[in-house]
Amino acid sequence: MKPSQAPQAGHDRSQVAWQIDKAGPNQALARRLLAIEFACSHPFLFVGLQRVTWRSLPSLPNFREALNAGRVWIGGLPSDRPGSSRLGPLGFCMAAASDSDLHIDELDVLPSWQNMGLASALLARLAKDAKTQGLTRLTLTTFVDVPWNAPFYAKRGFQVIAPEAGNARVASEWQRLIDKGIDPQSRCVMALEL
Ligand SMILES: CC(C)(COP(=O)(O)OP(=O)(O)OC[C@H]1O[C@@H](n2cnc3c(N)ncnc32)[C@H](O)[C@@H]1OP(=O)(O)O)[C@@H](O)C(=O)NCCC(=O)NCCS
Repeated sequence: MKPSQAPQAGHDRSQVAWQIDKAGPNQALARRLLAIEFACSHPFLFVGLQRVTWRSLPSLPNFREALNAGRVWIGGLPSDRPGSSRLGPLGFCMAAASDSDLHIDELDVLPSWQNMGLASALLARLAKDAKTQGLTRLTLTTFVDVPWNAPFYAKRGFQVIAPEAGNARVASEWQRLIDKGIDPQSRCVMALEL
């Protein structure tokens, strides 16, 4: 079965008010983020990239470190909504300041909660927090031809930039993908001016 682009039946994106929080150190949350990340890697099977994405998945220590450093934003149903604590985080974003940018390392939403605006809400919060810190762009690297990667960000105002027009984090991520044998033509660097 191919992942569907259509919002799931019965879901109206405009009706969902997401709660986005900056997360702190939390062992259980690190495991939860790993599980979300792993679930999000499965649709890459349909575009022949699951092995590549598995090789690039952050590890549990990576998540712990990011949580300790305050580099993780989590999104879910508002805490006053019934069932929200049982459901827990449904998506997250991991990002770090680099030069004058906020660089997005990961953006993931559980497959069964996709197409309801959660990733857009996470990006909006990230842009707001980055601006507050005096940062001027959001940056990331992503797959050019995967429908829910570069096209998703392009629809949200991101533009493709040359890898050398990125920041220190872009440079090291770009080098890492070359070291891992990932075709650089399949990836691009994108930036959103704030
Ligand atoms: C990309 C991702 C974070 C989007 O999360 P989301 O909460 O569904 O995003 P939103 O609801 O805010 O927006 C949905 C948009 O994504 C697009 N989309 C989502 N899943 C898609 C799919 N399987 N195929 C094509 N487009 C898809 C929709 O077309 C929609 O675009 P539109 O608003 O222009 O109609 C989510 O699909 C995901 O976690 N994917 C796996 C991990 C990943 O690839 N992350 C990005 C790495 S750089």
